[in-house]
Amino acid sequence: MAQSTSPSPPLSQGTGLHVAIIMDGNGRWAAARGRPRAMGHAAGVTALRRIAEAAPLHGITTLTVYAFSADNWNRPRSEVAALMTLLRRSLATEVDRCVRNDVRLSIVGRRDRLPNPLVRAIESAEEATASGRRLWLRVAVDYSARDSMARAAACWSQPLPPTREEFAAILAAVDASPVAPDVDLLIRTGGEQRLSDFLLWESAYAELYFTPRMWPDFDAADLGRAVAEYRRRDRRFGALPQAAAG
Ligand code: FPP
Repeated sequence: MAQSTSPSPPLSQGTGLHVAIIMDGNGRWAAARGRPRAMGHAAGVTALRRIAEAAPLHGITTLTVYAFSADNWNRPRSEVAALMTLLRRSLATEVDRCVRNDVRLSIVGRRDRLPNPLVRAIESAEEATASGRRLWLRVAVDYSARDSMARAAACWSQPLPPTREEFAAILAAVDASPVAPDVDLLIRTGGEQRLSDFLLWESAYAELYFTPRMWPDFDAADLGRAVAEYRRRDRRFGALPQAAAG
């Protein structure tokens, strides 16, 4: 498992895997069925529910998903509105399920540009699920890793640079979320192979896994394959392989 950037992880979630997912392919999935893109996003919520349920069975204690990037504001106004409504409704409908399944929900990212009803839904979902311990589900909304790092840097006024732990704490604060462990495995669905400004600091030593599967089709077996591949990797964090280190 990765070293935590937090000196004292806030939850037991620091003891398992942190998996991050770029949930790509909703639009193409819908287009292939002759349906509007919004339908692909709705199917994406179903896929996320499936993966959140399966995650603890694979040793995952923190799951961070990219629901809306800061650059997604550049999409057509109708799609942005549909995504904001979907997020608000999904948060409201999923809260009880999260409480029942011992899932803590956090939203990561800027809140000052979100519609007020969504901000209220976020605050209420976070409060209702705060004691969840089985899985920490972090949903990135209006998120940009580069913007977060720039804002975090602007908060630092000491002459000496911050330690990694100090910087991680500031970064978490600008994204209105507690400090999370480093990402162990970053999965991107939908066939593209890029990071798209997601968790660039937290993924410094993440293993990357790309799959052509469209996000609405991604299921528990796909997650199992990704985690199995991760477990076969040799993580060295810049050191030598064990055999060569003597
Ligand atoms: C990328 O697919 C997906 C998104 C920009 C949105 C993902 C959002 C969800 C799955 C909803 C999450 C909801 C909750 C409650 C967390 P794309 O639209 O870029 O697909 P494309 O590459 O095929 O066009």
